[in-house]
Amino acid sequence: MKNKTSIEQLRALKAKARLGGGSERISQQHERGKLTARERIDLLLDKDSFHELDMFVTHRARDFGMEEKQVLGDSVVTGWGTVEGRLIYVYSQDFTVFGGSLSQVHSEKICKIMDMAMKNGAPLIGLNDSGGARIQEGVVSLGGYADIFLRNTLASGVVPQISAIMGPCAGGAVYSPALTDFIFMVKNSSYMFVTGPDVVKTVTHEDVSFEELGGASVHSKISGVCHYVAESEADCLFLMRVFLGYLPQNNMEDPPFVESNDDPLRSETALDTIVPDSANKPYDVKDVISLVVDESDFFEIQTDYAANIVVGFARLGGHSVGIVANQPAHLAGVIDIDAADKASRFVRFCDSFNVPLVTFVDVPGFLPGTAQEHGGIIRAGAKLLYAFCEATVPKITVIIRKAYGGAYDVMNSKHIRSDVNLAWPSAEIAVMGPEGAVSIIFRKELAESSDPDKRKEELVKEYRDTFANPYVAAGRGYIDDVIEPHETRPRLINALEMLSNKRDTNPAKKHGNIPL
Ligand code: HXC
Repeated sequence: MKNKTSIEQLRALKAKARLGGGSERISQQHERGKLTARERIDLLLDKDSFHELDMFVTHRARDFGMEEKQVLGDSVVTGWGTVEGRLIYVYSQDFTVFGGSLSQVHSEKICKIMDMAMKNGAPLIGLNDSGGARIQEGVVSLGGYADIFLRNTLASGVVPQISAIMGPCAGGAVYSPALTDFIFMVKNSSYMFVTGPDVVKTVTHEDVSFEELGGASVHSKISGVCHYVAESEADCLFLMRVFLGYLPQNNMEDPPFVESNDDPLRSETALDTIVPDSANKPYDVKDVISLVVDESDFFEIQTDYAANIVVGFARLGGHSVGIVANQPAHLAGVIDIDAADKASRFVRFCDSFNVPLVTFVDVPGFLPGTAQEHGGIIRAGAKLLYAFCEATVPKITVIIRKAYGGAYDVMNSKHIRSDVNLAWPSAEIAVMGPEGAVSIIFRKELAESSDPDKRKEELVKEYRDTFANPYVAAGRGYIDDVIEPHETRPRLINALEMLSNKRDTNPAKKHGNIPL
């Protein structure tokens, strides 16, 4: 009989814990179009796979009458489960309990699963919905954040860490996601800021809304903090499941192989005519990517940030790859500060987690001008160079059209340890474009010419015939082969398979000093 009572008591306690801040606050959460912490976990994980930890933990604060306000489990739900049968660790902040704010025990719960994720080599997913440090706990809460930041940093490059922002996240609640590999946000209901609109008003007298200060649109288009914007919370959680499918469990494993019905030998004749005849006409490099990869599935990230470079995940012959591509349809595919930052972080992620890199090149160079020079294009460009140089994963490059100047070197050239470098016949590999080159090296001759326009035309043609092709580079072995565009898919898959046992290392060191 006693046993029965104790079982009932346990059930009652667990039911209470599952209610978090209570039915009224759950309704408020739903009225705002938001799911609860547990509903989110259910959508993220395979059915019935969640194992929750620390449901009986309560906060230890005693100031401001806090001892009267105890909630079982406090403001975060933690545990492990599976996505497509693969283990992941997850925490989901509960906004119905003190606005999801971070108490000491909240931090301890997160740190516990972070340590488990590291020991057992599985990804960590954070579902964030938090007002930041628990104000009533003072420095103890700040210490709790620092404990998490340290673990985020130590886990970086060991297990994939992915954050979803699913509500207003302020203060410490944004720095932990910022230390993780990818941030997903939800349109119209998620916000990230170091200090909220009220503090901004007090300090800078600016009137700014949540959305204008740190909405999904700001972070996906302007700051580049966000990697993916979902239409709804359900959409976000579903896409995180898909996204995980491209990644390995940890840095000691390869990404999963996913059998595809798409013929590895598929030759795509549309590629033969995709590059316009005029070198200055744009085309969409995403059309090239979708014609080449398995089932045209390309998981692009940071779509609206630095659209002049495209990055994302796809599969080739079932193998997960990270794609980096200049985008001639936006700013002619030039590399600017934002593009260099975006691509270098992506390259480093792929290298950390054994995801081979496929680079499509059509780049007129680095963006000139005072805004870029003063903003540090030298440092940003060097960062991208560094990222490609240090990467030891299989690296393959296809030069589609322009590969000019420093940008030729940077975009995974042979010289910086790329394994297989291919070019289409439309490739132009030179120090700079014909017009620019002629006006510099023939400046004097053109000034003295009786018909400078005609002479310039002749010289441009001569330069184009000499340099604006792939054969000078191929003649030196900088390009391994010039291929017909329709062969691209089979050639890439063949190269990836040839490289599947690639081993390469960097010199032993504590760590390098990437130009950040
Ligand atoms: C304790 C908090 C809280 C916090 C919210 N709540 N934030 N309790 N500590 N940090 C509580 C509220 O008192 C409220 O409780 C409930 O959560 C819901 O909050 P609301 O304000 O009613 O919700 P909303 O209007 O949606 O606004 C959400 C919010 C806002 C934008 C997050 O609450 C807010 O601005 N909070 C403070 C953000 C902040 O400045 N945090 C500290 C950052 S400093 P009741 O019971 O009234 O419903 C920091 C330091 C770490 O994090 C730095 C490390 C680098």
